[in-house]
Amino acid sequence: MKIINKIEDLKNEIKNLKSTKPGTIGLVPTMGALHKGHLSLIEKCRQENKIAIVSVFVNPTQFGPNEDYDKYPRTLEDDAQLCENAGIDIVFAPSPRDIYDEYYFKHKETTLICPPYEVVNKLCGKARPGHFDGVCTIVGKLFNITKANKAYFGQKDAQQLFIIQKMVRELNFDIEIVPCPIVRETDGLALSSRNTYLDEKARKSALSISRALFKAKELRTKGVIETQTLIDTALAYINMGGNMETEYAEIVSVDTFEKIDIIEENKKALMLIAAKVNVEDSNSGNCYQVRLIDNIEL
Ligand code: PAF
Repeated sequence: MKIINKIEDLKNEIKNLKSTKPGTIGLVPTMGALHKGHLSLIEKCRQENKIAIVSVFVNPTQFGPNEDYDKYPRTLEDDAQLCENAGIDIVFAPSPRDIYDEYYFKHKETTLICPPYEVVNKLCGKARPGHFDGVCTIVGKLFNITKANKAYFGQKDAQQLFIIQKMVRELNFDIEIVPCPIVRETDGLALSSRNTYLDEKARKSALSISRALFKAKELRTKGVIETQTLIDTALAYINMGGNMETEYAEIVSVDTFEKIDIIEENKKALMLIAAKVNVEDSNSGNCYQVRLIDNIEL
């Protein structure tokens, strides 16, 4: 396995590999701090393609000014080891200067892929203005650089997946997007790189998010179709976790990502939650918040 930083080196290596093992190229775009959730994507990518690439890049254009870009966990050595064990051919780990040109660093602006306002100005995008422009831009760049045939994305970032699928359709990217199921701890907590910020107490509180989703699913299975009832129940469960601040709890149609009031028979709906967990820094005694997201199909 090779670890490559520069775009030109990556292109050359892909060319070399293609001549020795022709077939499809699979890409798993990540920001590193790989966990079992990422590994499920990586393993699927390995199984389905001749050449398997994992990108590890904490993308500055998708973070807001007061977000955790600087603090985001960076564990390239461990990530590379996991990729090597999984039989990956290339880890592409560029620096921001390998990806964005001088203009960006001077003016804090670059050419962006901007999905329509209606799809980004809700759920995660509402609290994180510009986030999905940054995501689509880096993902589009990675598609162009690698010329991958398939790319693998986790369903935990459901709005991201929906927006990327829309981008691929509307901008005619010649790539198949492969959605991969959420991976959970045995107690239900959805795996996330941001879980590393949680201490034991915060982790316990965070569990209320998946509990809220499971409860809503249970009620739905019992025949409840009014989304407000399901949302109110979920909110009550999150509050029970203590130390939690709900950013949103919404139910949307899987097909349109628009809010719905009633879940119609044979129509798929998705409940999505974002909540912040308060964590106390054991050294300074200061409090900080960790933002977590999760979802479930109803
Ligand atoms: O989901 C992520 O980790 C990131 O948003 C992605 C898709 C790798 C783009 O930076």
